[in-house]
Amino acid sequence: MDKQIRIDNLHKSFYDGDSELKVLKGVNLDVDKAEILVIMGASGVGKSTLLHIIGTLDRPTEGSIFYDEQDITIFSENELTLFRNDAIGFVFQFHQMLPEFNALENVAMSRLIRNSKNIGSLDGSSSTPQEVYQTAEHLLDSVGLSERLNHYPSQLSGGERQRVAIARALMNNPKVVLADEPTGNIDDKTSDAVLDLLLEVNEKLNQTFIIVTHDSRISERAKRTVHLVDGRIAE
Ligand SMILES: Nc1ncnc2c1ncn2[C@@H]1O[C@H](COP(=O)(O)OP(=O)(O)O)[C@@H](O)[C@H]1O
Ligand SMILES: [Mg+2]
Repeated sequence: MDKQIRIDNLHKSFYDGDSELKVLKGVNLDVDKAEILVIMGASGVGKSTLLHIIGTLDRPTEGSIFYDEQDITIFSENELTLFRNDAIGFVFQFHQMLPEFNALENVAMSRLIRNSKNIGSLDGSSSTPQEVYQTAEHLLDSVGLSERLNHYPSQLSGGERQRVAIARALMNNPKVVLADEPTGNIDDKTSDAVLDLLLEVNEKLNQTFIIVTHDSRISERAKRTVHLVDGRIAE
């Protein structure tokens, strides 16, 4: 299997005055291309911290993260922003949709902003607003929401909002999708459907998924689960 991500001796501490809170204490982990990896761990163990660092939203105190053998921890802030926009899609526990925009606009938004700021992407591609909306519509269709394009967040159920969040994460066709407790605040039946969708998308689009959760139902369905225990990974 091709390796996509290699995490090497990752440490993360938070400092409060003189006191140091060691959260990650030497995480080593390989993630293959197109695999679904579930990282389980108790609340407060550092799952979100780890996912944020993998997603380049935060920097480690020590250690490296390689994407396709390239060490991204040496990137500048600008390089990281470009890399993140291009390569990574996020699904957070609290879907964080913009309330005054409908589902279609929420999915299209980041791409539209990117184009308007002329940030472009690493491969130099850009799209017209029409193309962006077409892609967004297609993604919403593929998560089963073709009848909900013009619905506002308040008009969607929790599961539907989570589906919008998944469509949004896929908008830039990222190499890697990072999901933080994607079924954290929805009921079992809905979370099964969201999980079905993640597995289906993974199979169809061949994207790499890393899902952190304390929900054992997710790990039952995944091929590979690792556990974050006391700041390290136990297989
Ligand atoms: N920005 C921060 N500053 C200080 N402490 C933090 C920060 N982020 C997380 N922590 C602490 O790190 C620990 C792990 O948090 P987190 O990664 O959110 O855990 P999990 O997602 O597994 O519940 C917790 O004790 C939390 O209080
Ligand atoms: Mg968390």
